[in-house]
Amino acid sequence: MKEQEEIEKTASVILKLSNTIAIAVVLLLITFLVLIFDVHLPEKKTTDIKPPQADSNGLFTESAREEFKQKLVNAQFWHAPDFSEIENENKKDLIAYGKDLIVNTSLYFGETGTVFAKSTNGLNCQNCHLEAGTKVFGNNYGSVASTYPKYRARSGEIENLYKRVNDCFERSLNGKSLDTNSKEMQAISAYIQWIGKDVEKGKKAAGSGLKDISFLDRAAEPALGNKVYAEKCQSCHQKDGSGLMNADKTAFTYPPLWGPKSYNDGAGLFRLSNFAKYVKYNMPLGASHTSAQLSDEEAWDVAAYVNSQTRPEKDISKDWPNIEEKPFDHPFGPFSDGFDEHQHKYGPFKAIIAKKTSQTQKS
Ligand code: HEC
Ligand code: HEC
Repeated sequence: MKEQEEIEKTASVILKLSNTIAIAVVLLLITFLVLIFDVHLPEKKTTDIKPPQADSNGLFTESAREEFKQKLVNAQFWHAPDFSEIENENKKDLIAYGKDLIVNTSLYFGETGTVFAKSTNGLNCQNCHLEAGTKVFGNNYGSVASTYPKYRARSGEIENLYKRVNDCFERSLNGKSLDTNSKEMQAISAYIQWIGKDVEKGKKAAGSGLKDISFLDRAAEPALGNKVYAEKCQSCHQKDGSGLMNADKTAFTYPPLWGPKSYNDGAGLFRLSNFAKYVKYNMPLGASHTSAQLSDEEAWDVAAYVNSQTRPEKDISKDWPNIEEKPFDHPFGPFSDGFDEHQHKYGPFKAIIAKKTSQTQKS
């Protein structure tokens, strides 16, 4: 009898033990799979997005459908974190101030700016970094926190975020740089660092910056761009490219594209490829990467037209200390590749790029 009990006891212990072992083995296997095959669980399921609301007739309007589609597409791309995540009140205030400086730059640094009047051309950072630098392919800041500090060939130096922000102040805003220790620089940096905080260090987030467009086989043509401009841009940016200010003259409603209040010739948008990519997926106002309004040709040609007009000049003699590192569409010589300034400004670019690639492969 006792023996029988003993056996049953041992059997149940063995059973329990083998169960535990089986569970442990399965857990171990899963850990292995994740580690070896780099299996990732999706962070945000597209099914988290609520379907559109039907109208009173039980139908989905065209705009509701469109909005839903847009949300599904955008879910595949980087998006800024939620403000409510920030727990520390001081940090929250600083980041909110940074965002406001990017949205309403002119109110602080423009004609009647409250921090430093007339120290810029009156543009807002947001004019070019749309939706406070969060719009998918709207020249957003998604990959800034993850990639800075980094080497930039334009200066030939490792640049930190302060330097990069001041680059846009001096070039895109044709103005004065900020003191690194100023509250404004600290706030702008805090905001940019915060919105990119979830992107893995060294990686570029999907949908960040600008979206590539294809190259033309010919040079971009200002005369063709003039037509595009008249049809699709002039109504807002004005015939003379000088834009339109708001009623109390504190900021631009439609920012200028050339002339004394525009970006200078050392700015990012003065490179034809940047302009064409920005415009293709963001202009006329309301266009996006899922609803482009311009063909690639129109984008290149209107870029050529706008960037052939007069604008402020910047002394950029210290830029690109190593001329071999000049990008294919940097429009100022000297060059090491034998192509002239005209081709570096307007294209065709394929030959320049092909030569660049073969040079770097040889060296
Ligand atoms: C006239 C348009 C324009 C305005 C206004 C502008 N920027 Fe930029 N900015 C650009 C372009 C174009 C680039 C990308 C340039 C390139 O890659 O060569 C850029 C790049 C940047 C980058 C680096 C982005 C990256 O992914 O590496 C930062 C940071 C930045 N800008 C901050 C600012 C801030 C802050 C302001 C306002 C003070 C500002 N910009 C205003 C056009 C502009
Ligand atoms: C319906 C009005 C409208 C039309 C049409 C329009 N834009 Fe814009 N554009 C804007 C506004 C507004 C901004 C600033 C966006 C913001 O701050 O959110 C802007 C910004 C820009 C910028 C960056 C800021 C600057 O001043 O350098 C460029 C470049 C630009 N537009 C080019 C074009 C081109 C080229 C076309 C025609 C293909 C065009 N836009 C058509 C309203 C318009």
